[in-house]
Amino acid sequence: MSATITVALGDRSYPILIEAGLLARAADHLAPLARGRTMAIVTDRNVLPHCQALRAALGVAGIRTEAIVLEPGEKTKSWDQLAALCDRLLDLGVERGDHVIALGGGVIGDLVGFACAILKRGCRFVQIPTTLLAQVDSSVGGKTAINTRAGKNLIGAFHQPAMVLIDPSVLDTLPVREVRAGYAEVVKYGLIDDPAFFAWCETHGTDLIAGNPAARDHAIAHAVAAKARIVAADEHETNGTRALLNLGHTFGHALEAVAGFSQALIHGEGVAAGCALAFAFSAAQGICPRADSERVAAHWRDVGLPDGLAAAGIAATGATLVEHMRHDKKMAAGTLPFLLAHGIGKTYLDKTVDLDVVEAFLDAQPR
Ligand code: GLY
Repeated sequence: MSATITVALGDRSYPILIEAGLLARAADHLAPLARGRTMAIVTDRNVLPHCQALRAALGVAGIRTEAIVLEPGEKTKSWDQLAALCDRLLDLGVERGDHVIALGGGVIGDLVGFACAILKRGCRFVQIPTTLLAQVDSSVGGKTAINTRAGKNLIGAFHQPAMVLIDPSVLDTLPVREVRAGYAEVVKYGLIDDPAFFAWCETHGTDLIAGNPAARDHAIAHAVAAKARIVAADEHETNGTRALLNLGHTFGHALEAVAGFSQALIHGEGVAAGCALAFAFSAAQGICPRADSERVAAHWRDVGLPDGLAAAGIAATGATLVEHMRHDKKMAAGTLPFLLAHGIGKTYLDKTVDLDVVEAFLDAQPR
C-alpha cells in the first residue's frame, strides 16, 4: 500500500508519503531536495541500523550524507543538546536552503525541527519518523520543542517540515511496548470525531499491535490524513480545532509527571489512561453515556493499555495530580481548558471545568 497525503498550508504545504520499504527508496524523494549538496541526518543510537540503511540508499543515488548520532531519550530535548546540534549543523555548513533529515522518534523530530526553525533564522527539514507515535502524530504539523527545568515542550516553535517520509516497515523492529503506546494516539483520532474508525480499532487493534502490515498501514494512513486535516484547519492551535488533538493529554500529562516522565509510564500509555479518564470524567458529569466511557476503557484493556489510574500504576492523590495540571502550558487566566466528550467521536473543548471537581473525581478513582 502506498499513500500520499498533503498538509494544505498554502506555500508551506508539504507531502506525507506512506509506503512500506520507503526508506530504501528515499533517494527518489530526497534527491531533488539535496540539490547535489551533503545532507545532514540527525538520529539517535537506537535508530542506527535505519540510519545506515538510509545512508546506503542515498549513497547509491550519489547523495552525500553526514550523520549526527544523539543519545536516545527525552533528556536529549535540552538547551545543551540544542546548542550542540546547532553548532554541529553550522560546522557542517548547513545553509538556509538545505534540508536536514530528522530520522527517529518524537525526541529527534522535536529537537531537529526546533534547531532548523532557528538555524540561520530557519532552514528546511524532512521528517522520517521511526516510531508509531511519531508517524501518526509528532512528525506531522510542525510542532517543535525542547524541555526545560520548568516543564516539557515549553520552548519551541511552529516550523513545518518540507516533507514527511513514513515507512511503516521500520516498526517491525520497534519494541511492542512502543508500538502499543503509539497505538493510543491512533485510537485518539477515532475518539475525537470518527466513531467508525474507533469501531475499526476495536476490531483490528490487537492485530495492528502484533504487526499485521495491512492493519498497521491502514491505521497510519487514516491517522495521518486526520492529522493533516486538523493541522490545515488550525496550524497554530488558535481556533480550537487543533486543540482536539490534546484529548487525554491534560490527565495523561499529570500522570506522566507524577511518574517522573520515566519508563514507568511512557507518553502513549499516559495518553491512553488520560483518554479513559477524560471519558470517565465526562460520564461522571452526565455529559457522556457511561456505556461510551466503558467502551473506551474496555478497548484499552483488550490491547493492554492502561484504562485508568490503577492500571497506570498511579497512587497519587487528586490534589497532587491537579497541582501538576495547574502548571499546564494551556492554563489561561486561571482556567484550564479540558477535552471532554459527549460520546465516542464527540470530543469538545470545555473551558468551564472546575479543578476542584476534577480533584474529587480523581480521588474517587480506584487505585
Ligand atoms: N500533538 C498534538 C499536535 O500536534 O497538535
